[in-house]
Amino acid sequence: MIAYLNGQFLPLAEAKISVLDRGFVFGDGIYELVPVYSKKPFRLDEHLRRLQGSLDGIRLASPHGVAEWRERILKLIALQDFADQSVYIQITRGVAPRDHAFPQGVPPTVFMFSQPLVTATAEQKAAGVCAISMADNRWLRCNLKAISLLANILLRQQAVDAGCAETVMLRDGYLTEGAASNIFVVKDGVLLAPPPSNLILTGITYDLVLELAAAHGIPHEVRVISEAEVRNADELWMTSSTKEIMAIVKLDGVPVGAGVPGPLAQRMDALYQTFKHQVMRA
Ligand SMILES: Cc1ncc(COP(=O)(O)O)c(C=O)c1O
Repeated sequence: MIAYLNGQFLPLAEAKISVLDRGFVFGDGIYELVPVYSKKPFRLDEHLRRLQGSLDGIRLASPHGVAEWRERILKLIALQDFADQSVYIQITRGVAPRDHAFPQGVPPTVFMFSQPLVTATAEQKAAGVCAISMADNRWLRCNLKAISLLANILLRQQAVDAGCAETVMLRDGYLTEGAASNIFVVKDGVLLAPPPSNLILTGITYDLVLELAAAHGIPHEVRVISEAEVRNADELWMTSSTKEIMAIVKLDGVPVGAGVPGPLAQRMDALYQTFKHQVMRA
């Protein structure tokens, strides 16, 4: 596996950073994860826009312009010997003596590597997955894709401990998102999505799902969603770049709707797959 570190392409095992890197010491950095199908990155421009937003949010100047990012990412993809990939990009505030204040004149650390893409299996898609709910106890800047994911990790592990795929988070009685995904609700044929805000990471998949809903005349509303609406949903979905559209069929042990992936989840998944294949063929 070939990785990228600070301008160099090298075997992953040879990529080394200082223990004083602020990513290691403070979790002071941001990341992106780009799915790649048949060596073509999917929605790369959108991912690069969100990357820039995260960098702006932590006041870290981008070390590269968009064209440079593209070139490096495409080279990293080309260097792998597998076709479907998930490219991980991480930028930290660099190596400096430990001090909370930003270091001056220190170059950021840029690390990228690519792994084989693990998507949901056909069986998982057909059966759906279970989820648990938890209070969202993260910070108030969840719109930044920060590498400091401790709260998300602890929340997600609770789902794993319960034999489930995801933790659906509620803050002050309202739906925010999943520990590593966005959450959609379907009620009476209407697709509901929580609005973009500092309380959620606006997923690239979330945006595409809403684009597809608009393009195909699927009734949808972007608005705050109460806990009661989550618990009385006809369908509940989790979405992310790797899981795509995945039906949640049980929440806290209680069946969601009919307890099987619902018709709108199946329709949206079909629209998503068609869109993806069209883009990849273009
Ligand atoms: C907290 C959180 N929300 C939402 C998402 C979904 O984002 P995307 O669709 O861009 O993968 C992720 C993805 O990892 C996430 O970690």
